[in-house]
Amino acid sequence: MSTLLDKLLLHASKYAPFSHKQKWRIGMRDEISFWDQHIAKNYVPRNGQFPSTEGQARTAPDTPLQDTFVQLLAWTNDPVLRILDVGSGPFTRVGKTMPGRTLEVTAVDPLSEEYKKLFTKHAVRPPVIPIEGAGETLHQLFPADHFHFAHANNCLDHGFDPVESVSQMVQVVRPGGYVYLRHEVNVAETAGYMGMHQWNFLLDANGDFIIRDKKRVVNMNKHLGRGVRITSQHEGDFLVTTIHRAPQ
Ligand SMILES: C[S@@+](CC[C@H](N)C(=O)[O-])C[C@H]1O[C@@H](n2cnc3c(N)ncnc32)[C@H](O)[C@@H]1O
Repeated sequence: MSTLLDKLLLHASKYAPFSHKQKWRIGMRDEISFWDQHIAKNYVPRNGQFPSTEGQARTAPDTPLQDTFVQLLAWTNDPVLRILDVGSGPFTRVGKTMPGRTLEVTAVDPLSEEYKKLFTKHAVRPPVIPIEGAGETLHQLFPADHFHFAHANNCLDHGFDPVESVSQMVQVVRPGGYVYLRHEVNVAETAGYMGMHQWNFLLDANGDFIIRDKKRVVNMNKHLGRGVRITSQHEGDFLVTTIHRAPQ
């Protein structure tokens, strides 16, 4: 649970010249507190029923893989498909089954140890336990060209360096595979650069995918270069970006 000091620091993080890592640590307390309450409300069955469809879908081991992601796996006939969810939170939202294939879903989150304490506290057990890691450290966890598909939802903009996170996601995906990113447009501006919300994901006037904070602006189309094809679209308040790694 967040203390009064945590809340004061979180508010101060909007204005004080803290580094990204300091703001991340301040925001982390708030994130854990959010999931503590969110798990209690949505993931703890009452009278044998889940209180929300989110709790039911993310807890079931046989939830089908989302259609959008199935389409992004059409390039391969491999019987076993390796899927990575970066910044998964305690319960990955990625589906766990696909007809005719075996899915190996790996979830990674920097707060995994804190989430494990919440699993014990609330007596819940997700079908995929997140392993400890961040988008920026994927290359320490996985070999290059390893996954068929990599996913990140509403998380990389919470990190220290999302440009590095996206680059590493591309590296750990196999040639021919896809990276899928879904983040709220300009979330750091909207949140006033408070706590973990430090980066903005947006499109420029040419439709190029941009990541920026107050000091740095990176055109990801140029940064990732010729080895990928990037497509983006707005879905409500979110920017959905798909990065196709060129086959070798
Ligand atoms: C709002 S939650 C979203 C969780 C999940 N993706 C979902 O859609 O439910 C943001 C998550 O991003 C994680 N996060 C923070 N910094 C990160 C980083 N550098 N790399 C990857 N994930 C990070 C947090 O620990 C938290 O679990």
